[in-house]
Amino acid sequence: MKTKVTVPGRVNLIGEHIDYHQLPVLPMAIQRRVSLSFETRTDRRIRAVSEHYGEREVCLACDTAPGLPGDWGNYIKAAVQAAGRCASLERGIDANVTSDLPAAAGLSSSSALLTAFTIALLAANGVQPTLKQLMDVLPDGEQFVGTRGGAMDHAAVLGAQNGCALLVRFAPLDLAAIPIPAGWSFLVAHSLTTAEKSGAVRAQYNARRAAGSEALRKLGFASFQAALCSPDCDRLAQSTSLTEEESRCFRHVMSEALRVQEAITALQSGDAVGFGNALTASHASLRDDLRVSCPALDELVQAALKARALGARLTGAGFGGCAIVFSKAEDRARIAEELVAKYYSRHSAFDPAHHLIYAEPSAGAIALAA
Ligand code: GLA
Repeated sequence: MKTKVTVPGRVNLIGEHIDYHQLPVLPMAIQRRVSLSFETRTDRRIRAVSEHYGEREVCLACDTAPGLPGDWGNYIKAAVQAAGRCASLERGIDANVTSDLPAAAGLSSSSALLTAFTIALLAANGVQPTLKQLMDVLPDGEQFVGTRGGAMDHAAVLGAQNGCALLVRFAPLDLAAIPIPAGWSFLVAHSLTTAEKSGAVRAQYNARRAAGSEALRKLGFASFQAALCSPDCDRLAQSTSLTEEESRCFRHVMSEALRVQEAITALQSGDAVGFGNALTASHASLRDDLRVSCPALDELVQAALKARALGARLTGAGFGGCAIVFSKAEDRARIAEELVAKYYSRHSAFDPAHHLIYAEPSAGAIALAA
């Protein structure tokens, strides 16, 4: 009997490069998904076929080391590790993977794949995991594949609710769905430069994380939450004990945490201008302080703002990938047309179905399975 697991991608509305410092973030799941249909095997092998990436075989007991960087089979191995931490795995699966979620775009296609395989393997071994069980194992599983990311992506692809943004708080994990006001809309626009997590981006990403943590340590705080409560919070980044890189990363993390709060207040009060301003200010901080943008993303964000979007910013890890563009629903199609005319018309690789997505706030895997 075939069983299906569906896991959406996510776009982060605001709260970038702060989840790994345990600060709240505000992503939403989107309607683009990874779907895995599988049958349980009687032995301990996994045979997986992807329409885009070909076929892989993994043995539950023996294939524990990652293969070539970037190989999609690594996500299957990461899922074996993650699922193996929840239950003893005696049975493998025959799986078929399809997806309409662009890869390496900052939309969590890798987390969606890892999550789908983990859920399928557990199901094949008689376990229906809870959100908490999955959240305990998935972020570490991701580190097996590449970046030392936080837990935002897994929280979003699992726990999001239809029509809502998902406020994700960490330590302890807490998810709260916040309805997105009627008439607010989002475009996910690809910069047409890719951000391969397994490549050079991985080192850059990990370096930003390390610089923020080192700044925190030098300043003597146990957490960013504690630093944010300090009466000197505005001046901490200027401390002479920090290197320039540490100071910039620290300033981004502190200011982004405040922008998340502003964005939540704006979302809850229906203040579209305030919400958009927080997004645009986030991009400036990611570009100038954290330095994770790139010329293509900066140009795309500028083009969106020129088209009178209410806000725009890079989304996800950066260094390429997508921007999120926020507007009133009645302006979205016009903004999309202007982006095509002013940005995409110069790029022969542009494919509207993959690169310019009308993103709708969608349900996560748990709600989809219910
Ligand atoms: C990647 C990581 C996330 C998060 C973002 C940046 O998507 O997987 O955990 O750190 O980058 O906000």
